[in-house]
Amino acid sequence: MPGNVRSTLGAPLEIRGTVLPNRIVSAPMERNYCTLDGRVTRRYVDYLRARAAGGAGLTFTESSYVTQASKARPAQMGLHRDHVIEPLAALADAVHAEGGLLGVELNHAGRVVPSSVSQLQPVAPSAVPCAEIGGEMPRAMTIGDIDDAVEAFALAARRAVDAGVDVISIHGAHGYLIAQFLSPRSNRRTDEYGEPAAFLNRVVHAVRDSVGERIPIFLRLSAFEGLPGGLDDEATIAAVARADLDQIDVIDVSAGTYGAGEWITPSGEVEEGYLAERAARYRGFGRVVCVAGRITTADAAARIVAGGAADLVAVGRALHADPEWARHAMRGSRPRPCISCNQGCADVIHRGVPLWCAVNPATGREGRSRRRGPLRADLLVVGGGLAGMEAAVTAAEAGLRVRLVERAAELGGQFALAARLRPKPQFPRLLTWYRDRLASLGVDVCLRTDQSVDEIGRSSDGIEAVIVATGGTGYVPPVPGSDRARVVEVREWLRTGAPAPGDEVIVWGGDRAAVYVADDLLAHGHRVTVVTSAPELAPEAGARERLPAVRRLTTDPGVTVHLGVSVERVDENAVICGRGDERFTVDSAALIIASHGVMPANSALGPIALPAGRVAWAGDTAGGTTIDEAIATGRSAALEVIATIEDGSDAGDPATNVRAKEEVSAR
Ligand SMILES: Cc1cc2nc3c(=O)[nH]c(=O)nc-3n(C[C@H](O)[C@H](O)[C@H](O)COP(=O)(O)O)c2cc1C
Ligand code: SF4
Repeated sequence: MPGNVRSTLGAPLEIRGTVLPNRIVSAPMERNYCTLDGRVTRRYVDYLRARAAGGAGLTFTESSYVTQASKARPAQMGLHRDHVIEPLAALADAVHAEGGLLGVELNHAGRVVPSSVSQLQPVAPSAVPCAEIGGEMPRAMTIGDIDDAVEAFALAARRAVDAGVDVISIHGAHGYLIAQFLSPRSNRRTDEYGEPAAFLNRVVHAVRDSVGERIPIFLRLSAFEGLPGGLDDEATIAAVARADLDQIDVIDVSAGTYGAGEWITPSGEVEEGYLAERAARYRGFGRVVCVAGRITTADAAARIVAGGAADLVAVGRALHADPEWARHAMRGSRPRPCISCNQGCADVIHRGVPLWCAVNPATGREGRSRRRGPLRADLLVVGGGLAGMEAAVTAAEAGLRVRLVERAAELGGQFALAARLRPKPQFPRLLTWYRDRLASLGVDVCLRTDQSVDEIGRSSDGIEAVIVATGGTGYVPPVPGSDRARVVEVREWLRTGAPAPGDEVIVWGGDRAAVYVADDLLAHGHRVTVVTSAPELAPEAGARERLPAVRRLTTDPGVTVHLGVSVERVDENAVICGRGDERFTVDSAALIIASHGVMPANSALGPIALPAGRVAWAGDTAGGTTIDEAIATGRSAALEVIATIEDGSDAGDPATNVRAKEEVSAR
């Protein structure tokens, strides 16, 4: 298969005389890496250069605003004024130097532009707000507004071409202005622009006139919106059939809209390459077809292209997780896998902070990679959860001889427990990747080895540095009766691997772990009662991350959710609950699974007999409890130790890897 994959994905494709070196497109993704006036930054250049160097044939920037009034997010890329051209030209040079092509995506966000960003009332085809996001009331565009917007698209395209950009994409997907004209949910006009494709057609012609015949133009569309009364598959095809496609070279098929973002960046429960069959339907329009949507493996990408569903695959998050994804795909090696968690990307974009990636702390820091030669020293990593594994990988990549000791019979710690749950079907891929990577780097992995910090302190002979990543222990609030046998801490319960007894289970707590376990219990046919003092389920998780599980828990008749409720006492056959002054009883003798976070294990540094800078802390022991924090602190701990060894000094923060914690908390 690798040979076939290579020949399929590695085949060049010529469009209007521009030769795409292969079939892998780095999908447009907003990253919050630009300046407030829309210019790409050094960080942006480093990020995209890494994707081009990693083998993506065509690398897109992101949805870029064509006028100040069409800007959706403060640190978004702009094409609205000439000052953006020079930095964009530097980006184009960087991508070209790696043998890649650069594409930009032109966008007007229409009714979803927040006035807090634009300082103006948003505009839209009709005065219909985007209720799903609590959107502001837009002003219906006048003909003059429409003329101005069309001209802005044309000018923005011209600026991009002047900067040396190779490909233009027109953003007609995801609920932005062009999609708002296409959709009956937002277009109630009675003039000629009530015709869904009329605005799109004007934009297409204006952009083509502006860029000339040489430049390939992509049109990005949502194959369906995913909301009641919105465009479904048939209606979208019908709308596209009315568009003037003669000036369009590529139809780029995505899906979803505001309020149905789960179809834009689908969770790991959604089938790999889920839009392929839909994309195949666009073949009938005689254009090149590109498709996005959870393409994370080389095999899936090659199947889509070889099977003829599309000519190009647009890979978003998998390339965010590993800039060398395309090279891995061609070589048949394994990239660091995207687990479709949305934790560091889709759920971050609306927060205005720079994107990161939950599984790869180097994402967004491409310019900061270590360039010095290999090191020679012995490192002990204690703990084989995510933090410990990442620390070991980072250190071994720098040349350290690493021994990793783990108390359990398998690697992965708490993450391995979560990987068994229904809403997290992609988690095992990351475990497999770490296991393979540790093996290929020659890390000495010792399972079933219980090495306490005390023991390390007594016998640190030959060890030149230690990273402590011993995880944490779960916590059960000490209310009367919480020591009964039927109350089990969630991690302890998952560790047993035993099925829950009886029909019914009570989940005490409403954090991520509680929600995902409750959802898994539901999948196994249990009735579930969730009691949590939190005002909502999994409040610490982002909207897209938690949506699939939360939707099931809040709609399935087999689930009862008590929000804002404290457990006050656990009796043999009842749980006494309170909400303010109100008391009520959940009459049940069922198993109670408690989920209230973790407390770090081994949080005292004292006994380790190594100089301060040669000891670092990662994961729960360094305050990194989530997946992204665990991995980020693992990497930072290793970098901390590496820096100390490189400097030949023993100085450093003795208690924790402060930099990692600061970076994580700055998010
Ligand atoms: C953080 C983030 C930002 C995105 N920004 C854009 C964008 O600016 N324009 C766009 O057309 N699609 C955008 N997308 C959608 C991606 O291009 C892609 O279609 C989607 O992520 C599905 O592909 P994937 O499963 O390979 O990630 C974004 C996706 C993510 C995760
Ligand atoms: S944060 Fe999660 S979904 Fe986003 S790229 Fe990284 S692994 Fe994939």
